[in-house]
Amino acid sequence: MKIAVVGSGYVGLVTGACFAELGNDVICVDIDEDKISKLNNNTIPIYEPGLEESVVRNKEKGRLKFTTELKKAIKESEIIFICVGTPPKPNGEADLSYVENVARTIAEVMDSYKVIVEKSTVPVETGEKVAKSIRAYNIHKADFDVVSNPEFLREGSAVSDFMNPDRIVIGTESEKARQIMEKLYKPLKAPIIFTDIKSAEIIKHASNSFLATKISFINATANICESAGADVEKVADGIGMDKRIGRAFLNAGIGYGGSCFPKDVDAFVKIAEKLGYDFKLLKSVKEINDEQRKNFVKKIEKSLWIVKNKTIGVLGLAFKPNTDDMRLAPSTYIIAELQKEGAKIKAYDPKAMDKAKEIMEDVTYCSNPYEAAKDADALVIVTEWEEFKELDLKRIKSLMKHPLIIDGRNIYNPEGIKKEGFAYISIGRKDVM
Ligand code: UDX
Repeated sequence: MKIAVVGSGYVGLVTGACFAELGNDVICVDIDEDKISKLNNNTIPIYEPGLEESVVRNKEKGRLKFTTELKKAIKESEIIFICVGTPPKPNGEADLSYVENVARTIAEVMDSYKVIVEKSTVPVETGEKVAKSIRAYNIHKADFDVVSNPEFLREGSAVSDFMNPDRIVIGTESEKARQIMEKLYKPLKAPIIFTDIKSAEIIKHASNSFLATKISFINATANICESAGADVEKVADGIGMDKRIGRAFLNAGIGYGGSCFPKDVDAFVKIAEKLGYDFKLLKSVKEINDEQRKNFVKKIEKSLWIVKNKTIGVLGLAFKPNTDDMRLAPSTYIIAELQKEGAKIKAYDPKAMDKAKEIMEDVTYCSNPYEAAKDADALVIVTEWEEFKELDLKRIKSLMKHPLIIDGRNIYNPEGIKKEGFAYISIGRKDVM
């Protein structure tokens, strides 16, 4: 099928490459000329496992193209995916101006039937507004349908998540559009849930908000475990064995970051407010999450007593492992707070260093975790990259000024680290001194 994907960011690029991989003819569009020219030269602007190979392979097969010419892409395609950004406005509401602009352009150009698919995360009732906007500018009076098809891609596993979805959500009132979308997604052989547009839009916000709720729940429980002298990892295992709960997203730590959870939780609260409901639960989810990173900084301060002029090695900068994304990463808050206290920061991250350098100054960026540990008074784990779990702890201990690890992601076993001679502080578990 002929597809246009408007917006070549984390979602659009993965969506375009994967639909091409499934044998469709895909044109990815973006207004950023530099991004498009890089993509045309096989330079992928984001790190995502499997994405580069997929883009290069499908470009070579001639079924994946990149352009800034939106109108041409619309004309040549039957299905148009809107994957543009919906960044938060200062009041927490989603800014839908990019979505509206694309809808208007589609209307001005389309002269044959189109399925217009909103894949960007949008507030409920956006589908209606997209349809209304298209009707208002539909100068060729072409027939069209609007579909909501939210994505559930996790950064760091987006390609795999696209090709192996738990479910596909299709929200539409049109039987014709339903059949087209069913045919498009058929090769994935995944369960498809068909709903009305509004329910599909709410499924997205509710999914992300529920996952964020699980995280804040276990972080709140971790604080109780710390006071009680219990072990939150054991508690998470114990409750997670209940199939109704599930162990996933019960990893206590310094809380969630990234471009989705913080934005989507705020947006869902705002959506509810506009619909007359005070979403107290989600307000607490956000509050607990904000508190978690503050508590972590207090742990570091308490363990060092005096932070001023101390050298702190920070392992992990990206908001989660297997990505280079620094958006709303807890590391930025933690490092800024420690610098305010006069700490000298040395940092290492396997993938996010370039993006981190753009937003954090006065940090000594190291080329490996051992360099970050050298002469450090404390080593702070912020992102749970696999390689940090495999560190040569004897070597780390010999390099540090003082064998103290403060683990924001509970990547080590307290008994094991104690045997290595470290003082060890983690989340929701007893300190090892
Ligand atoms: C999320 C949703 O998972 C995905 O379905 C949606 O499409 C986009 O938003 P993403 O933000 O890429 O994906 O990453 P995710 O793996 O969900 O982690 C989000 C944040 O939660 C990260 O900061 C991570 O460190 C944190 N997290 C995750 C925890 O603190 N504890 C956990 O148990 C799981």
